[in-house]
Amino acid sequence: MPGEVVTIQAGQCGNQIGQEFWNQLCREHGINTIDGTLRDINKYPGLFDTHDNKPRSSRDDYPNVFFNQDDDNRFTPRGILFDLEPRVVSNISNRFPHLFNPRNIYTSASGSGAGNNWSQGYDYGTSHIDELIDIIDREVDSCDNLEGFQLIHSVAGGTGSGLGSFLLEQLADRYAKKLVQTYSVFPANDQTSDVVVQPYNTILTLKRLIEFADSCVVFDNAALNSLALANLRTSNISFEQTNQLVSTVMAGMTNPLRFPTAMYNSMSSILSSLIPTPTLHFLTPSFYPFTSEFVNDAKDVRRSTGYDVLLELLNKNLRMVKSDNKGGNDSYISILNLLQGKVDENDIVKGLSRFQQRITFVPWTNSSVNLIYGKKSRFLEYQMTSESQFIKTKHKKLVSGLMLANSSSIVSLFKRNCSQYDKLIKRNAFLDGYKRGALFSDNLQEFHDSRQIVQGTIDEYLLSATNEYLNDDDGDDDDDDDVEIDG
Ligand code: GTP
Repeated sequence: MPGEVVTIQAGQCGNQIGQEFWNQLCREHGINTIDGTLRDINKYPGLFDTHDNKPRSSRDDYPNVFFNQDDDNRFTPRGILFDLEPRVVSNISNRFPHLFNPRNIYTSASGSGAGNNWSQGYDYGTSHIDELIDIIDREVDSCDNLEGFQLIHSVAGGTGSGLGSFLLEQLADRYAKKLVQTYSVFPANDQTSDVVVQPYNTILTLKRLIEFADSCVVFDNAALNSLALANLRTSNISFEQTNQLVSTVMAGMTNPLRFPTAMYNSMSSILSSLIPTPTLHFLTPSFYPFTSEFVNDAKDVRRSTGYDVLLELLNKNLRMVKSDNKGGNDSYISILNLLQGKVDENDIVKGLSRFQQRITFVPWTNSSVNLIYGKKSRFLEYQMTSESQFIKTKHKKLVSGLMLANSSSIVSLFKRNCSQYDKLIKRNAFLDGYKRGALFSDNLQEFHDSRQIVQGTIDEYLLSATNEYLNDDDGDDDDDDDVEIDG
């Protein structure tokens, strides 16, 4: 059976997305969000229908990867909520009063947040390391076979970015053999950017995402907003709605762990098909279609077969990261498509062949698209009525798909953030708050190192599009004394 995954949510954005993620997981596994008990399946007419005159007794899901199940069949998320100010986590506690382990909910004693300053979030981690690590260790102790961690955070504020960076360093140090996957939200990079120092926080966080995470699924708020406008029935887009787009991706990516199949049933089996080298680990998600199975206020979708979904996933407007390479071709390093719902084999063969014709892989890969048939939760076939009963919905036959792409298009996002960072640092603008931090009190070397490491990743992604990539002598080590490998 798959190993467990511990979810860490840091800061406002991380916790707000986290609550939508847990809401979706509870829905897919028939768990009450109020207290983690199992829902009464008698309220779902036909869910556990009879077959051969025998009731279907066994469930085909495996919630235990993400939930701790106690003797009374109560499910508690393996989730840790870190924030330096109390507002967001207390909203979550009001919404889900008895779902989370109260010992896993942590806010700072002063309750003052990190003031959108990476350095404050990072230093808070350093000075409270024992308390924070205790919570993580305790959660890990409740796992039989921990596979890894997932961190949900924004890279642009103070807590999710600074404390998040600190936690990434700690996880790599203390749990070196465990996988670390992040869901990282980047700022919109436009006039609506709320905080002027976001580029500093982003570059400092990117350094840790590059060095200490095994895989990062990346979103940017501009793309999330456009997607919400295009797919929802409202033009008044809130974080709750954009967060449901993110939680849909998270639920899709973790589907094979929660509904295990023979081929893909661990984080590592999913990531190994996507990440060829340690640095090239930034994944761009696309999802189609967003129906009310995943988000509130979704526009109606009449039809979506496996064929439709595969081709739609190539639509650049569905990407959750804006790319500046509008008309140009991207070079794909790897692609993984996860389909859920009833698919027709012929449809998929036809769809995949068209799909392959429309994309260009980098020259050194095997140019194949990986496909997982996930199981769609049967609970998603139902909608709650006002009488707290459940009725079957009309979405039953819709196929939905998540594409995770590792491609050179991610360079656009990195370059946008670097260019904003370069403008600020050139003028030494708004640095006072950072200079008070431990890493910056002597000099600004940490900034320069981080910028250089991000540049290294940009260069590596660009080089990966060429034949030179595997032949490049400039790799990471140019030290003549390095041990040479025979042969
Ligand atoms: P401090 O407020 O400094 O303590 O840090 P924090 O990590 O709590 O900050 P926050 O998570 O608010 O990060 C700021 C960035 O995240 C900005 O770019 C916001 O637009 C974005 N953001 C904040 N909340 C959300 C959210 O719920 N969803 C999304 N998608 N973005 C968010």
